[in-house]
Amino acid sequence: MSKLFDLTSKVAVIVGASSGIGVQVAKALANEGANVAILARRYDKLKDVAKEIETLGVKALPVKCDVTSEEEVKNAVNSIIKEYGKIDILFNNAGVASMADVDSLDENEWNRVMDTNVKGIFLMTKYVVPYMKNNHYGKIINTSSVMSSVAAKAAPLHAYEASKSAVLGLTRGMASSWAQYGITVNAICPGLFKTEMTEHTLFEESFLMRYNAVCPASRPGKEGELNGAVIYFASDASNYTTGQALFVDGGWTSV
Ligand SMILES: NC(=O)c1ccc[n+]([C@@H]2O[C@H](COP(=O)([O-])OP(=O)(O)OC[C@H]3O[C@@H](n4cnc5c(N)ncnc54)[C@H](OP(=O)(O)O)[C@@H]3O)[C@@H](O)[C@H]2O)c1
Repeated sequence: MSKLFDLTSKVAVIVGASSGIGVQVAKALANEGANVAILARRYDKLKDVAKEIETLGVKALPVKCDVTSEEEVKNAVNSIIKEYGKIDILFNNAGVASMADVDSLDENEWNRVMDTNVKGIFLMTKYVVPYMKNNHYGKIINTSSVMSSVAAKAAPLHAYEASKSAVLGLTRGMASSWAQYGITVNAICPGLFKTEMTEHTLFEESFLMRYNAVCPASRPGKEGELNGAVIYFASDASNYTTGQALFVDGGWTSV
């Protein structure tokens, strides 16, 4: 069997792994053999996810961490290194959204979205990348969105759209600086997936009808349909692929 996607003995850090896409991806990476550290603010949820992952025969370390706090990020990375001694894969996936146009957007909400979605990636990567440089190996995957590249007229998401575009700029910059250290940096851009973030907003009947009408696949993504993209970027299969954004959106941004 091909070892191209094998993650045995790798250490993967999944940020934003207390619900939604982060949980799915943490399980998928563990299924390929990676030991994982899972981060978010809700520690009880992380503990439950860790228990489930350990039934797959790998280690899972739950770490409480608010990615907007430099102190918490620094402590989280230290505790992961103490447990595992290295970090091979970093999935920067923590995110929040705010449904508002600029003219109705509160400054605190703008800051909350930008701090979580952009500064969070800056801080996590800042503290993880020295270990990757040292090992001359690293796989960084950032969660952007289709909203980095198109706007959804039916859903006002101005701060979110700005933040997810910034994620792509950051991805390209880091990729070009660190290829020389054997580190790849790529982004996934999901279309619509049912999670805590979207179930009470974008899965509302009228939005869903419009989404299905413009999306060539005529449906949202299903649980697990992002896993292949992340496993590809997390594995040696993508060693010569860096600075890229992969849209996993049923074709939405291709039309
Ligand atoms: N679902 C979609 O359709 C879709 C589409 C495109 C992109 N995305 C992106 O996918 C990522 C995951 O979102 P999701 O859809 O899976 O939604 P979700 O279920 O709400 O998950 C968001 C995750 O981010 C964590 N998080 C939020 N703020 C944080 C902070 N300050 N520090 C640490 N962790 C924090 C949350 O954990 P705690 O609350 O426990 O901290 C949670 O684990 C996000 O970046 C989102 O923008 C989602």
